Amino acid sequence: MSNDLDVERIRQDFPILTRTVRDERPLVYLDSAATSQKPIEVLEAEAHFYRTCNASVHRGAHQLAEEATDAYEDARRRIAGFVGAADSDIVFTKNATESLNLASYAFSNATAKALHAPDSVDPRFVLRPGDSIVVSQMEHHANLVPWQEVCAKTGATLRWIGVDDEGRLELDSLDTIIDASTRVVSVVHQSNILGTINPVAEVMQRAHEVGAVGIVDACQSIPHMPVRVEELGADLVAWSGHKMLGPTGIGVLWGSREVLKEMPPFITGGSMIETVFMDHSTYAEPPKRFEAGTPMVAQAVGLAAAVEYLERLGMDAVARHEHDLTVYALDRLREMRGVRIIGPTDAKERGSAISFVVDGLHPHDVGQFLDDRGVAVRVGHHCAWPTCRRFDVPATTRLSSYIYNDTRDIDVAITGIRAAQDFFGV
Ligand code: ALA
Repeated sequence: MSNDLDVERIRQDFPILTRTVRDERPLVYLDSAATSQKPIEVLEAEAHFYRTCNASVHRGAHQLAEEATDAYEDARRRIAGFVGAADSDIVFTKNATESLNLASYAFSNATAKALHAPDSVDPRFVLRPGDSIVVSQMEHHANLVPWQEVCAKTGATLRWIGVDDEGRLELDSLDTIIDASTRVVSVVHQSNILGTINPVAEVMQRAHEVGAVGIVDACQSIPHMPVRVEELGADLVAWSGHKMLGPTGIGVLWGSREVLKEMPPFITGGSMIETVFMDHSTYAEPPKRFEAGTPMVAQAVGLAAAVEYLERLGMDAVARHEHDLTVYALDRLREMRGVRIIGPTDAKERGSAISFVVDGLHPHDVGQFLDDRGVAVRVGHHCAWPTCRRFDVPATTRLSSYIYNDTRDIDVAITGIRAAQDFFGV
């Protein structure tokens, strides 16, 4: 194993990792693709905010309101810096699902508005029957269902880039799937179920060749590798805070200035307006236009602490550590009889989420068996049901590791899978 990260040291920062589960077994947490655990710095940053300067931001003429606003906007700056972005291009949302809905509602809202006030919307967000929206066959439901809804509301057609047997995008068909009818291309950077890392810049380039808006779901990549959002080549990039050591309740949508400026709002109300009359309103510039209501201030502060933690480790080191663990886990799984990895079987262009099925065992039974041994994994369709269907499996068991895992965690999981095979006689 590489010595890039001192896992023993890191584990001391995560109080939850000291607890036991299921009859005093040490917790082996291999479910970070679902949500990561939180270091003490993040817990304390949130608590500190509430203890010392909790107030509503961007309003109020008192010192607490000023300090809370500074804390919120400082968090935005630090999170922007983490992905090489300008802070004015960072929109805070509730989670990545909301970020992707914000993007998709820009299209359905603009389309509805265009029926009555065509001059009030940027035509690139207006969809018509005959237009197409392109996703991939490995999308999380969060980057699929919202686009199905947009199609149902606008008459646009949903298309998708297929996935090959190895779990890679079928890029040979890119030029035919994304064509002159395509108005939106929204694809995942790193698959939460297959672990595949997609060449999203190539897909975004094709999107832009045909004049489509390009969107990337970076939920599983930004926590795990160095990502500078602009290098993804997209117009909009969505991710969540809780998968990268941050709190739940905060997600991010990065947008190019030019696209954000023209995008209609998603949620409307207080804080996102410029002026309000009884019969109409005008809206604030981004990012405020997309942050209606009281925002997630403590969560933003917590997420800023999380990115500082990751920056201290160094995202190159994080990526190398996870790569080494992925190589190790794939090797161990490949050695096992009756185990099929769903997704790339080598660690090239692949992240640390590893799905597999075991002959003769339902993934839920494998998960329960592992849980009895203190190993937390995710089982099910991983919110990527069409991907499961593509591989003809009802569900998978998924190991997903992070900075606080080492090969011993993988070994405990592998021993548990073997024990399940022995117990059930398969
Ligand atoms: N999207 C999260 C996962 O893949 C919840 O587990």
